[in-house]
Amino acid sequence: MRDYDSRDGVMIFGGVPVTEIADEFGTPVYVTDEVRLRENYRNVHGAFSKHMDAGIRYACKANTSLAVLKILESEGSGIDAVSIGEVLSCLKAGFTPDRILYTGVNVSNEELRAVTDLGVMVNVDSASELERLAKIKKGLPISMRITPGVGSGHSGKVITGSKGSKFGIPLKDAVKTYLRAKELGFDLKGIHVHIGSGGQTVEPFMEAMDVLIEMTNLLKENGIDLEFIDIGGGIGVPYRPNEPEMDVNELGMNLTDMILEGTDVKKILVEPGRYIICDTTVLLTRCVDVKDTGVKRYVGVDAGFNTLIRPAFYNSYHHAAIGNKFGRACTAKYDIVGPICETGDHLAQDRALPDPEEGDVVVIYDAGAYGFSMSSNYNSRPLCREVLVNNGKAELIRDSEPIEDLWRHQRIPARLIG
Ligand code: LLP
Repeated sequence: MRDYDSRDGVMIFGGVPVTEIADEFGTPVYVTDEVRLRENYRNVHGAFSKHMDAGIRYACKANTSLAVLKILESEGSGIDAVSIGEVLSCLKAGFTPDRILYTGVNVSNEELRAVTDLGVMVNVDSASELERLAKIKKGLPISMRITPGVGSGHSGKVITGSKGSKFGIPLKDAVKTYLRAKELGFDLKGIHVHIGSGGQTVEPFMEAMDVLIEMTNLLKENGIDLEFIDIGGGIGVPYRPNEPEMDVNELGMNLTDMILEGTDVKKILVEPGRYIICDTTVLLTRCVDVKDTGVKRYVGVDAGFNTLIRPAFYNSYHHAAIGNKFGRACTAKYDIVGPICETGDHLAQDRALPDPEEGDVVVIYDAGAYGFSMSSNYNSRPLCREVLVNNGKAELIRDSEPIEDLWRHQRIPARLIG
């Protein structure tokens, strides 16, 4: 969690007082700091590229806003995409197909055809997908995702690398599937794992790398020489005050050392989403209601799990502060709850806050990863705005949806209209 400055009791974000942003653009609103975004990209890229040829493939599922993609494109990032929609968004933002790796799971033949027609490399998830892909196009360069039997993550819902996972080619079938791919005429470029998301320790990445190295060497013995090893994403970030941060330089050094010592492979790919975008963004939401039930106190705000689902869905912690009473002594503990008609609709629970009142601007920290990208229209609430700040200047990068958009793709059969 980052610390922020304040001026006259108002929190400053990216050089702009948060109250000014809330007044100008309305709430709820996601606000992203361009300077921090560029810094995060450079940190993670540097941590790996100072040791060997390293490509960052930003996992754009964390945030696919075109302005964010454009910034990362200008930094030289690549992309990890999971759907044709993500691929097309990245192309629109200026990425060329060779900078995108498509790692789908349970994807249709239509989607595989569309992705390969665009010239994007597929990271194959199963033997079934391999056979289907072979019928779509011959001689494609591909990579394959294996299930390393090592998992890590902030919640069971996001651990992906354990044995028996729905993701990847089971380890026991990996060599067989690579050999089959060779027989089918594919050009075998790489091997990939993704152990999960938001793990806080380096060790599981190293365990997964052990598996990748063993597999790479086994494949070499079988006449298959790979160009890259892709360790996936999953670098955790600190969401709580004083929480230690995973050392990305140590991670980069250890993983690249292992590859350089254990294989002939010359390139590593890494797919961070959260690390790059998480702490670049806050969600500003306005307090509309304060309630003391005698049992519990509530701060009612205009963002619910339609806007930020992580607390309700994963029980995730996001730090919260009142932006216009920054640094003031806290008076009592409150749950911060939204306008969605479900008891599970909370952004934060049991938080000490300084005398919340209607009109206050509540700041939800570290909302950049899987914040806007997982928001929805539940309760028929339009998606909110996004703003980019850069050294004191704030710009709208996504407008709020007009209410008509909720009905745009719907049809009422004529027989129902009187
Ligand atoms: N690569 C692959 C193949 C992935 O599936 C993912 C995330 C990543 C990279 C990036 O992981 P990251 O570096 O962001 O941890 N919605 C959840 C996270 C789901 C992650 C899904 N896959 C959350 O809000 O925590």
